[in-house]
Amino acid sequence: MQSSGWEGQLAEIVREAETAFSSASTSKDLYELKVKFLGKSGSFQSVMKAMGALPAAEKPAAGKLVNEAKQRLEARYAEVESALKSKELGERLAAESLDLTLPGTAWTPGAQHPVTLVMDEIAEIMSRLGYAVRTGPLIESDRNNFEALNVPKDHPARDMQDTFYIDEHHVLRTQTSPIQIRVMESEAPPLRVVAPGAVFRCDADVSHSPNFHQIEGLCVDRRVSMADLKGTITFFVGEFFGRGLKTRFRPSFFPFTEPSAEMDCQCPLCKGKGCRMCGQSGWIEIGGCGLVHPNVFQSAGLDPKQWQGFAFGFGIERMAIIKYGITDIRLYTENDVRFLKQFPS
Ligand code: DAH
Repeated sequence: MQSSGWEGQLAEIVREAETAFSSASTSKDLYELKVKFLGKSGSFQSVMKAMGALPAAEKPAAGKLVNEAKQRLEARYAEVESALKSKELGERLAAESLDLTLPGTAWTPGAQHPVTLVMDEIAEIMSRLGYAVRTGPLIESDRNNFEALNVPKDHPARDMQDTFYIDEHHVLRTQTSPIQIRVMESEAPPLRVVAPGAVFRCDADVSHSPNFHQIEGLCVDRRVSMADLKGTITFFVGEFFGRGLKTRFRPSFFPFTEPSAEMDCQCPLCKGKGCRMCGQSGWIEIGGCGLVHPNVFQSAGLDPKQWQGFAFGFGIERMAIIKYGITDIRLYTENDVRFLKQFPS
């Protein structure tokens, strides 16, 4: 057959490509050849372009011819590719050997952090009194962290809290108390919630870390009194540290509660006799508490004439110190599994 013009070109390309495919020694080389002949700017494409100049009557027959040639090349490519791939796989398997007798990697199971254990246990104990768990964000508005909690801009209580400011209107929360506001604004009373989480203060020495944890408690209902607060805390202390331990409430001040108290429990270690843990006093301070201040109810949109409530805040690390006798706060952040494994979950 005498081939001329584009037909000749086509036959030439097919022959050339077939020879090239057959001589490829790796699948990568083969792929490059595919691009060269069949790719977008490959030789095949230029023949297709040349066909565009043919008279309309000749186009269908020419198109058929080109398609057939292309299919033939693609089939040839697939054939060579599969042969090369299986050859390559064989070579890889021969080169990589797997020693099934090697010992496996030993994964040492971790352990729950005492801070997590304490938070979970408090939530569990309080759930028996109908308390649900709520959380809030670590970056909190100045309004929720202070303003709505009855701590205006010029209030001296702001100094006590060594705040990390993010910007003029946001802080790293210095306490879990803003969760009180969030809950009162988003849920209808009566409310019983505990809110555990991390808090931040710009403060660091042997007994203070800039990042520690608290758990907030909030109860809102009709006719809630200091007696409810004391009963609740005393139940909690008995369950957490051991039944029979006494609690005591000392008058104190917090802007968001009125009256406010500092609560102590009898030292669980010496049962009130006096030891190193409690500084020989027989008592250990576990947190602040009080009746929710009317201004706080007002900020959160609740009518203080209709609703009363109590709130409390415990320091988690402090409770872990007492419960497990962890006296060095650095241990909390070192992540040493030998330390973590000592606490039964
Ligand atoms: N937010 C207080 C603090 O970080 C602790 C606290 C005191 C929480 C009294 C309360 C409360 O809910 O009623 O120092």
